[in-house]
Amino acid sequence: MKKKIALIFGVTGQDGAYLSKFLLNKNYKVYGVKRRSSSINTKRIDDIYNDINSKSEFVLFYGDLTDSSSILNLIKKTRPDEIYNLAAQSHVQVSFEVPEYSAEVNSLGTLRILEAIKNLNFEKKIKFYQAGTSEMFGKTKEKFHSEKTPFYPASPYGVSKCFAHWITVNYREAYGIFACNGILFNHESPIRGETFVTKKIIQGLIRIKKGYQKKLFLGNLYSKRDWGHARDYVEAMWKMLQQKKPNDYVIATGKTFTIKEFINRAANKIGFKIKWIGDGINEKAINVEDKKVIIACKKRYFRPVEVDYLKGNARKAKKLLKWTPKTSLNNLIDEMIEHELENLS
Ligand code: NAP
Ligand code: GDD
Repeated sequence: MKKKIALIFGVTGQDGAYLSKFLLNKNYKVYGVKRRSSSINTKRIDDIYNDINSKSEFVLFYGDLTDSSSILNLIKKTRPDEIYNLAAQSHVQVSFEVPEYSAEVNSLGTLRILEAIKNLNFEKKIKFYQAGTSEMFGKTKEKFHSEKTPFYPASPYGVSKCFAHWITVNYREAYGIFACNGILFNHESPIRGETFVTKKIIQGLIRIKKGYQKKLFLGNLYSKRDWGHARDYVEAMWKMLQQKKPNDYVIATGKTFTIKEFINRAANKIGFKIKWIGDGINEKAINVEDKKVIIACKKRYFRPVEVDYLKGNARKAKKLLKWTPKTSLNNLIDEMIEHELENLS
């Protein structure tokens, strides 16, 4: 049987790495698009990129979502069965600082891929996955977010992803492209970017424990997030493209925790006994053993507008995709700690 071919935009990111490995295990030929950078940006995929056995099945090309010609040429050259658009300026806080660039990549980048599929007359050949996000729900009042919950984005990132969502729906309806939106809630892993809160907390606490760092500075400790494991979530992306009809799906665990609860669990597992004192910007965590402050808040880590609460209802994915998350928050934290300790040693 002919091997399926996948083309992944954003292959060097957290999800790109997990998805590449998942698809190679499913016997796909995987083409990945990486952007030019002045320092090496392939560390998450070096194990498969350098592996002599899988080398011919995993090939990287240069490209950029801001560059229509590279997108069109790559799709023409690789003739994929499936395209996964995971590329984005994915940091919510950073999107307030680079709003135009975030829209350029996240919104127009998605449109550029869809246009290339259409202009190459690949509407019936290529299935398309768009990496949507729970940030699109933003400040909505509903407390259990499903595919039917209205969007109310609260950052340039969230707004840019709403454009990408609707343009994907539009190209599906207008041109019959098999295009799916995954509306994924936060998902983490040992290879999560270091400025996202879960990785920052675990890395910071371990460094403090080992004496490499004195304090960890954070922002809002009271927002709630529905955290899953990236490994489980990339499987859902693939499942969406294996259905008979294209559709949009919420992918989530259905459980939500504050940042403070995440810190308490991680600190406990790392061997800290901590005590919280103060309020608001002055809230701090003290290491009970030596009475030193190990966590404090800093204004720069608070956002101009916050998404206070996210909790996803993945009932549709469970029913139609037969997908359920496999990793609990505790297991996710254990895995992240283990990886961090290995890295440090
Ligand atoms: P990530 O680790 O930040 O990876 C983003 C990827 O996009 C990286 O490969 C990055 O390249 C690439 N990229 C950025 N700008 C680009 C450009 N102009 N052209 C081409 N590639 C570009 O993000 P992730 O956590 O894997 O998330 C994957 C996707 O899912 C993103 O679209 C994100 O917005 C979305 N999402 C993530 C979550 C989550 O909780 N992780 C939840 C919902 C949706 P470099 O490596 O060179 O930076
Ligand atoms: N990054 C960060 N750094 N966040 C902090 C900090 C800090 O020092 N202190 C508190 N937070 C709070 C943020 O204000 C936010 O409420 C929460 O921790 C989670 O922040 P992030 O880990 O940066 O993730 P996010 O929820 O903003 O965005 C992630 O999830 C989205 C899905 O809902 C990203 O992966 C997005 O790309 C993704 O779409």
